[in-house]
Amino acid sequence: MPLGLVTAGESHGPALVAILTGLPAGLELDRDAIRHDLARRQAGYGRSPRQRIETDDVEVLAGLRHGMTLGTPLALVVPNRDHSNWAWGMSPWLPEGEPTGKGREPVTLPRPGHADLAGALKYGHEDVRNALERASARHTASIVAAGSVAKTLLAAIGISVSGAVVEIGGAQGEEAAREAIDAARRDRDTLGGVVEVRARGVPPGLGSYATKDERLDARLAWTLMGTQAVKAVEVGDGLAIARERGSASHDELLRDEGGYRRETNRAGGIEAGTSNGETIVVRAAMKPLPTLMRPLRSADLTTGDAAQALVERSDVAAVEALAVVAEACVAFELAAAARDKFGGDALADFVAAHRAYVERIPWSAAT
Ligand SMILES: Cc1cc2nc3c(=O)[nH]c(=O)nc-3n(C[C@H](O)[C@H](O)[C@H](O)COP(=O)(O)O)c2cc1C
Repeated sequence: MPLGLVTAGESHGPALVAILTGLPAGLELDRDAIRHDLARRQAGYGRSPRQRIETDDVEVLAGLRHGMTLGTPLALVVPNRDHSNWAWGMSPWLPEGEPTGKGREPVTLPRPGHADLAGALKYGHEDVRNALERASARHTASIVAAGSVAKTLLAAIGISVSGAVVEIGGAQGEEAAREAIDAARRDRDTLGGVVEVRARGVPPGLGSYATKDERLDARLAWTLMGTQAVKAVEVGDGLAIARERGSASHDELLRDEGGYRRETNRAGGIEAGTSNGETIVVRAAMKPLPTLMRPLRSADLTTGDAAQALVERSDVAAVEALAVVAEACVAFELAAAARDKFGGDALADFVAAHRAYVERIPWSAAT
Protein backbone atom coordinates (compact mmCIF):
# COMPACT_ATOMS: atom_id res chain seq x y z
CA MET A 1 0.00 0.00 0.00
CA PRO A 2 1.66 3.27 -1.05
CA LEU A 3 1.65 6.20 1.33
CA GLY A 4 -1.33 8.38 0.41
CA LEU A 5 -2.88 11.61 1.63
CA VAL A 6 -6.28 13.17 1.13
CA THR A 7 -7.27 16.44 2.79
CA ALA A 8 -10.56 18.30 3.21
CA GLY A 9 -11.74 21.42 4.96
CA GLU A 10 -12.76 25.03 4.43
CA SER A 11 -10.92 27.96 5.97
CA HIS A 12 -13.80 28.91 8.31
CA GLY A 13 -15.62 25.58 8.32
CA PRO A 14 -15.71 23.36 11.41
CA ALA A 15 -12.31 21.71 10.85
CA LEU A 16 -9.54 20.64 8.49
CA VAL A 17 -9.08 16.93 7.90
CA ALA A 18 -6.13 14.84 6.70
CA ILE A 19 -6.36 11.10 6.08
CA LEU A 20 -3.07 9.24 5.61
CA THR A 21 -3.08 5.75 4.18
CA GLY A 22 -0.22 3.26 3.93
CA LEU A 23 1.54 4.16 7.19
CA PRO A 24 3.35 1.19 8.70
CA ALA A 25 1.95 -0.15 11.98
CA GLY A 26 3.98 0.44 15.13
CA LEU A 27 5.06 4.02 14.50
CA GLU A 28 4.94 6.00 17.72
CA LEU A 29 3.47 9.46 17.23
CA ASP A 30 3.98 12.42 19.53
CA ARG A 31 1.02 14.80 19.76
CA ASP A 32 3.27 17.61 20.97
CA ALA A 33 5.52 17.25 17.91
CA ILE A 34 2.51 17.75 15.63
CA ARG A 35 1.32 20.69 17.76
CA HIS A 36 4.80 22.18 17.57
CA ASP A 37 4.79 22.06 13.76
CA LEU A 38 1.28 23.54 13.65
CA ALA A 39 2.48 26.38 15.87
CA ARG A 40 5.54 26.95 13.67
CA ARG A 41 3.22 27.36 10.67
CA GLN A 42 1.26 30.02 12.51
CA ALA A 43 4.30 31.99 13.64
CA GLY A 44 6.27 34.47 11.58
CA TYR A 45 6.58 38.18 11.12
CA GLY A 46 3.87 39.69 8.91
CA ARG A 47 1.07 37.23 9.64
CA SER A 48 -2.52 38.35 10.18
CA PRO A 49 -4.26 38.55 13.57
CA ARG A 50 -6.04 35.29 12.75
CA GLN A 51 -2.90 33.44 13.77
CA ARG A 52 -3.42 34.84 17.26
CA ILE A 53 -7.10 33.88 17.33
CA GLU A 54 -6.33 30.27 16.60
CA THR A 55 -3.79 28.09 18.31
CA ASP A 56 -4.03 24.97 16.23
CA ASP A 57 -4.35 21.59 17.82
CA VAL A 58 -4.72 18.11 16.38
CA GLU A 59 -7.21 15.37 17.15
CA VAL A 60 -6.99 11.81 15.91
CA LEU A 61 -10.17 9.99 14.92
CA ALA A 62 -8.75 6.74 13.57
CA GLY A 63 -5.62 4.72 12.91
CA LEU A 64 -3.92 5.26 16.27
CA ARG A 65 -4.13 3.39 19.55
CA HIS A 66 -2.24 4.47 22.65
CA GLY A 67 0.04 6.60 20.46
CA MET A 68 0.95 3.76 18.04
CA THR A 69 -0.17 3.59 14.41
CA LEU A 70 -2.28 0.53 13.59
CA GLY A 71 -1.42 0.25 9.89
CA THR A 72 -4.93 1.50 9.12
CA PRO A 73 -5.92 4.92 7.71
CA LEU A 74 -4.84 7.67 10.11
CA ALA A 75 -7.50 10.40 10.36
CA LEU A 76 -6.23 13.74 11.67
CA VAL A 77 -8.50 16.68 12.47
CA VAL A 78 -7.39 20.28 13.03
CA PRO A 79 -10.42 22.21 14.36
CA ASN A 80 -10.96 25.78 13.13
CA ARG A 81 -11.42 27.64 16.39
CA ASP A 82 -12.53 30.71 14.42
CA HIS A 83 -15.52 28.69 13.16
CA SER A 84 -17.55 29.87 16.16
CA ASN A 85 -17.62 33.35 14.57
CA TRP A 86 -18.82 31.83 11.29
CA ALA A 87 -21.21 29.23 12.69
CA TRP A 88 -24.17 30.56 10.66
CA GLY A 89 -22.20 31.70 7.58
CA MET A 90 -20.23 28.45 7.22
CA SER A 91 -22.76 26.00 8.62
CA PRO A 92 -22.47 22.72 6.68
CA TRP A 93 -26.26 22.34 6.93
CA LEU A 94 -28.92 24.91 6.12
CA PRO A 95 -28.72 27.10 9.23
CA GLU A 96 -31.72 27.79 11.39
CA GLY A 97 -32.61 31.20 12.77
CA GLU A 98 -31.64 34.71 11.73
CA PRO A 99 -28.34 35.23 9.92
CA THR A 100 -25.67 36.09 12.46
CA GLY A 101 -21.88 36.35 12.67
CA LYS A 102 -19.46 36.43 9.76
CA GLY A 103 -20.02 35.17 6.23
CA ARG A 104 -23.69 36.26 5.96
CA GLU A 105 -23.27 38.53 2.96
CA PRO A 106 -22.24 36.99 -0.38
CA VAL A 107 -18.83 38.04 -1.71
CA THR A 108 -19.04 39.28 -5.30
CA LEU A 109 -15.78 41.22 -5.77
CA PRO A 110 -13.12 38.80 -7.02
CA ARG A 111 -9.49 39.50 -5.99
CA PRO A 112 -6.94 39.48 -8.81
CA GLY A 113 -4.40 36.71 -8.14
CA HIS A 114 -6.73 34.67 -5.92
CA ALA A 115 -9.04 31.76 -6.67
CA ASP A 116 -12.11 33.99 -6.56
CA LEU A 117 -13.00 34.53 -10.21
CA ALA A 118 -11.71 31.27 -11.70
CA GLY A 119 -13.36 29.31 -8.88
CA ALA A 120 -16.70 31.10 -9.12
CA LEU A 121 -16.85 30.66 -12.90
CA LYS A 122 -15.69 27.06 -12.90
CA TYR A 123 -18.09 25.84 -10.20
CA GLY A 124 -20.96 28.22 -10.93
CA HIS A 125 -20.80 29.93 -7.54
CA GLU A 126 -22.61 33.22 -7.10
CA ASP A 127 -20.92 33.74 -3.74
CA VAL A 128 -17.15 33.85 -4.22
CA ARG A 129 -16.79 32.58 -0.65
CA ASN A 130 -17.70 29.13 -1.92
CA ALA A 131 -14.40 29.16 -3.85
CA LEU A 132 -12.09 31.11 -1.59
CA GLU A 133 -12.80 29.09 1.54
CA ARG A 134 -11.08 25.98 0.20
CA ALA A 135 -8.51 27.80 -1.94
CA SER A 136 -7.29 29.63 1.16
CA ALA A 137 -3.92 28.59 2.55
CA ARG A 138 -5.61 27.69 5.83
CA HIS A 139 -5.64 24.30 4.09
CA THR A 140 -1.90 24.08 4.70
CA ALA A 141 -2.54 23.33 8.41
CA SER A 142 -3.72 19.85 7.38
CA ILE A 143 -0.63 19.43 5.19
CA VAL A 144 1.64 20.39 8.09
CA ALA A 145 -0.08 17.87 10.40
CA ALA A 146 0.42 15.11 7.79
CA GLY A 147 4.01 16.24 7.17
CA SER A 148 4.74 16.02 10.87
CA VAL A 149 3.71 12.36 10.85
CA ALA A 150 5.83 11.79 7.73
CA LYS A 151 8.85 13.30 9.49
CA THR A 152 8.38 10.81 12.33
CA LEU A 153 8.43 7.94 9.82
CA LEU A 154 11.54 9.35 8.12
CA ALA A 155 13.31 9.78 11.47
CA ALA A 156 13.04 5.99 11.96
CA ILE A 157 15.50 5.60 9.06
CA GLY A 158 17.72 8.55 9.92
CA ILE A 159 16.26 11.14 7.53
CA SER A 160 15.61 14.70 8.72
CA VAL A 161 13.88 17.48 6.79
CA SER A 162 13.96 21.20 7.52
CA GLY A 163 12.64 24.28 5.78
CA ALA A 164 14.01 27.82 6.02
CA VAL A 165 13.43 31.27 4.56
CA VAL A 166 15.93 32.42 1.92
CA GLU A 167 14.49 35.86 1.23
CA ILE A 168 11.35 37.94 1.73
CA GLY A 169 10.47 40.62 -0.80
CA GLY A 170 14.02 40.41 -2.15
CA ALA A 171 15.53 41.04 1.32
CA GLN A 172 17.91 38.49 2.84
CA GLY A 173 18.59 38.14 6.58
CA GLU A 174 16.11 38.57 9.40
CA GLU A 175 16.56 42.28 9.98
CA ALA A 176 16.35 43.26 6.32
CA ALA A 177 13.32 41.00 5.86
CA ARG A 178 11.53 42.62 8.84
CA GLU A 179 12.23 46.04 7.42
CA ALA A 180 10.83 44.98 4.06
CA ILE A 181 7.68 43.65 5.77
CA ASP A 182 7.26 46.82 7.85
CA ALA A 183 7.62 48.95 4.73
CA ALA A 184 5.06 46.85 2.84
CA ARG A 185 2.66 47.02 5.79
CA ARG A 186 3.00 50.82 5.91
CA ASP A 187 2.18 50.94 2.21
CA ARG A 188 -0.69 48.48 2.82
CA ASP A 189 0.93 46.10 0.38
CA THR A 190 2.11 42.47 0.46
CA LEU A 191 5.31 40.50 -0.24
CA GLY A 192 6.44 37.11 -1.49
CA GLY A 193 9.78 35.39 -1.18
CA VAL A 194 11.83 32.22 -1.48
CA VAL A 195 12.11 29.22 0.86
CA GLU A 196 14.52 26.29 0.88
CA VAL A 197 14.03 22.76 2.16
CA ARG A 198 16.93 20.44 2.94
CA ALA A 199 16.62 16.71 3.59
CA ARG A 200 19.61 15.00 5.18
CA GLY A 201 20.37 11.29 5.49
CA VAL A 202 18.49 10.34 2.32
CA PRO A 203 20.14 7.23 0.84
CA PRO A 204 20.73 6.92 -2.91
CA GLY A 205 17.82 5.24 -4.63
CA LEU A 206 14.60 7.00 -3.56
CA GLY A 207 12.51 7.73 -6.65
CA SER A 208 13.45 6.43 -10.08
CA TYR A 209 14.17 7.38 -13.67
CA ALA A 210 11.93 4.49 -14.80
CA THR A 211 8.74 6.54 -15.22
CA LYS A 212 7.82 10.20 -14.84
CA ASP A 213 5.56 9.41 -11.91
CA GLU A 214 8.43 7.92 -9.96
CA ARG A 215 10.93 10.75 -10.49
CA LEU A 216 11.73 12.24 -7.10
CA ASP A 217 12.41 15.71 -8.55
CA ALA A 218 9.03 15.59 -10.31
CA ARG A 219 7.29 14.50 -7.11
CA LEU A 220 8.89 17.29 -5.10
CA ALA A 221 8.09 19.88 -7.77
CA TRP A 222 4.51 18.62 -7.90
CA THR A 223 3.95 18.85 -4.17
CA LEU A 224 5.55 22.30 -3.88
CA MET A 225 3.79 23.73 -6.93
CA GLY A 226 0.61 22.28 -5.47
CA THR A 227 0.95 24.69 -2.57
CA GLN A 228 -0.86 28.03 -2.58
CA ALA A 229 1.14 30.97 -3.99
CA VAL A 230 4.15 28.87 -5.12
CA LYS A 231 5.08 29.92 -8.64
CA ALA A 232 8.49 28.28 -9.23
CA VAL A 233 10.46 25.33 -7.87
CA GLU A 234 14.19 24.77 -8.16
CA VAL A 235 16.18 21.61 -7.41
CA GLY A 236 19.84 22.17 -6.49
CA ASP A 237 21.42 24.95 -8.54
CA GLY A 238 18.39 24.77 -10.85
CA LEU A 239 18.13 27.93 -12.91
CA ALA A 240 21.74 29.08 -12.43
CA ILE A 241 23.02 25.86 -13.98
CA ALA A 242 21.25 26.63 -17.24
CA ARG A 243 23.82 29.40 -17.75
CA GLU A 244 26.87 27.24 -16.94
CA ARG A 245 29.01 24.82 -18.89
CA GLY A 246 28.73 21.11 -18.20
CA SER A 247 32.16 20.98 -16.58
CA ALA A 248 31.00 23.49 -13.97
CA SER A 249 27.54 21.99 -13.52
CA HIS A 250 27.98 18.44 -12.32
CA ASP A 251 29.25 16.93 -9.09
CA GLU A 252 32.40 14.82 -9.41
CA LEU A 253 32.34 11.37 -7.87
CA LEU A 254 34.96 10.52 -5.26
CA ARG A 255 35.23 7.30 -3.36
CA ASP A 256 36.72 6.46 0.02
CA GLU A 257 36.15 3.81 2.70
CA GLY A 258 32.71 5.31 3.48
CA GLY A 259 31.60 4.85 -0.16
CA TYR A 260 30.87 7.42 -2.84
CA ARG A 261 30.85 11.09 -1.95
CA ARG A 262 30.85 14.46 -3.73
CA GLU A 263 32.59 17.71 -2.87
CA THR A 264 29.82 19.75 -4.47
CA ASN A 265 26.04 19.35 -4.50
CA ARG A 266 24.91 21.28 -7.55
CA ALA A 267 22.37 18.58 -8.36
CA GLY A 268 20.66 19.14 -5.01
CA GLY A 269 20.87 15.45 -4.13
CA ILE A 270 18.89 14.15 -7.11
CA GLU A 271 20.17 12.72 -10.40
CA ALA A 272 17.95 11.06 -12.99
CA GLY A 273 14.92 11.48 -10.75
CA THR A 274 16.64 9.41 -8.07
CA SER A 275 18.20 10.52 -4.78
CA ASN A 276 21.99 10.27 -5.04
CA GLY A 277 22.90 10.19 -1.35
CA GLU A 278 23.68 13.89 -0.95
CA THR A 279 21.51 16.34 0.95
CA ILE A 280 18.35 17.07 -1.03
CA VAL A 281 17.99 20.80 -1.64
CA VAL A 282 14.84 22.32 -3.16
CA ARG A 283 13.62 25.90 -3.29
CA ALA A 284 10.17 27.34 -3.85
CA ALA A 285 9.33 30.89 -4.90
CA MET A 286 6.18 32.47 -3.46
CA LYS A 287 4.30 35.30 -5.12
CA PRO A 288 3.18 38.33 -3.06
CA LEU A 289 -0.12 37.56 -1.34
CA PRO A 290 -3.11 38.61 -3.45
CA THR A 291 -5.37 40.08 -0.73
CA LEU A 292 -4.45 43.75 -0.64
CA MET A 293 -5.51 46.42 1.81
CA ARG A 294 -5.33 48.81 -1.15
CA PRO A 295 -7.11 46.55 -3.60
CA LEU A 296 -6.49 46.30 -7.33
CA ARG A 297 -9.22 46.90 -9.88
CA SER A 298 -11.89 44.26 -10.30
CA ALA A 299 -15.48 43.96 -11.48
CA ASP A 300 -18.54 42.81 -9.52
CA LEU A 301 -19.58 39.25 -10.36
CA THR A 302 -23.30 40.04 -10.15
CA THR A 303 -23.61 43.54 -11.60
CA GLY A 304 -20.50 43.60 -13.81
CA ASP A 305 -19.71 47.06 -12.43
CA ALA A 306 -16.10 48.10 -12.05
CA ALA A 307 -15.08 48.10 -8.38
CA GLN A 308 -12.12 47.49 -6.16
CA ALA A 309 -11.48 43.90 -5.13
CA LEU A 310 -12.54 42.39 -1.81
CA VAL A 311 -10.54 43.31 1.27
CA GLU A 312 -10.30 40.43 3.77
CA ARG A 313 -8.14 40.03 6.80
CA SER A 314 -4.84 38.96 5.37
CA ASP A 315 -1.13 38.51 5.94
CA VAL A 316 1.49 40.99 4.68
CA ALA A 317 3.89 38.11 4.08
CA ALA A 318 3.68 34.41 4.82
CA VAL A 319 7.10 33.25 3.64
CA GLU A 320 8.07 31.92 7.08
CA ALA A 321 4.86 29.89 7.13
CA LEU A 322 5.60 28.60 3.64
CA ALA A 323 8.98 27.33 4.86
CA VAL A 324 7.13 25.11 7.35
CA VAL A 325 4.54 24.02 4.78
CA ALA A 326 7.23 23.25 2.18
CA GLU A 327 9.11 21.19 4.76
CA ALA A 328 5.92 19.18 5.36
CA CYS A 329 5.34 18.70 1.61
CA VAL A 330 8.89 17.47 1.01
CA ALA A 331 8.77 15.23 4.09
CA PHE A 332 5.57 13.61 2.90
CA GLU A 333 6.89 12.89 -0.61
CA LEU A 334 10.18 11.54 0.75
CA ALA A 335 8.28 9.33 3.19
CA ALA A 336 6.13 8.10 0.29
CA ALA A 337 9.24 7.35 -1.80
CA ALA A 338 10.85 5.58 1.16
CA ARG A 339 7.67 3.55 1.70
CA ASP A 340 7.74 2.60 -2.01
CA LYS A 341 11.32 1.41 -1.69
CA PHE A 342 11.33 -0.23 1.74
CA GLY A 343 7.72 -1.44 2.01
CA GLY A 344 6.75 -2.53 5.46
CA ASP A 345 3.35 -3.29 6.95
CA ALA A 346 5.17 -3.08 10.26
CA LEU A 347 7.65 -0.34 11.10
CA ALA A 348 10.25 -2.98 12.04
CA ASP A 349 10.09 -4.39 8.48
CA PHE A 350 10.50 -0.90 7.01
CA VAL A 351 13.54 -0.19 9.19
CA ALA A 352 15.09 -3.62 8.53
CA ALA A 353 14.70 -3.24 4.75
CA HIS A 354 16.38 0.17 4.90
CA ARG A 355 19.26 -1.21 7.00
CA ALA A 356 19.84 -4.17 4.68
CA TYR A 357 19.83 -1.90 1.61
CA VAL A 358 22.23 0.65 3.11
CA GLU A 359 24.59 -2.16 4.12
CA ARG A 360 24.56 -3.45 0.51
CA ILE A 361 25.52 -0.18 -1.19
CA PRO A 362 28.75 1.85 -1.00
CA TRP A 363 27.20 4.81 0.81
CA SER A 364 27.15 6.18 4.31
CA ALA A 365 25.13 9.09 5.61
CA ALA A 366 27.14 12.28 6.15
CA THR A 367 27.87 12.84 9.82
C1 LIG B 1 1.19 29.87 4.27
C2 LIG B 1 0.42 30.71 3.31
C3 LIG B 1 -0.35 31.78 3.78
C4 LIG B 1 -1.07 32.58 2.90
N1 LIG B 1 -1.78 33.64 3.39
C5 LIG B 1 -2.47 34.43 2.53
C6 LIG B 1 -3.17 35.58 2.99
O1 LIG B 1 -3.21 35.87 4.17
N2 LIG B 1 -3.83 36.33 2.06
C7 LIG B 1 -3.82 36.03 0.74
O2 LIG B 1 -4.41 36.72 -0.05
N3 LIG B 1 -3.17 34.94 0.27
C8 LIG B 1 -2.50 34.15 1.12
N4 LIG B 1 -1.82 33.05 0.63
C9 LIG B 1 -1.80 32.81 -0.82
C10 LIG B 1 -3.14 32.37 -1.38
O3 LIG B 1 -3.66 31.28 -0.67
C11 LIG B 1 -2.96 32.00 -2.88
O4 LIG B 1 -2.30 33.02 -3.53
C12 LIG B 1 -4.31 31.76 -3.53
O5 LIG B 1 -4.88 30.59 -2.98
C13 LIG B 1 -4.26 31.63 -5.05
O6 LIG B 1 -3.48 30.55 -5.44
P1 LIG B 1 -2.17 30.72 -6.31
O7 LIG B 1 -1.40 31.85 -5.69
O8 LIG B 1 -1.45 29.41 -6.17
O9 LIG B 1 -2.55 31.05 -7.70
C14 LIG B 1 -1.06 32.27 1.51
C15 LIG B 1 -0.31 31.18 1.04
C16 LIG B 1 0.44 30.41 1.92
C17 LIG B 1 1.24 29.26 1.39
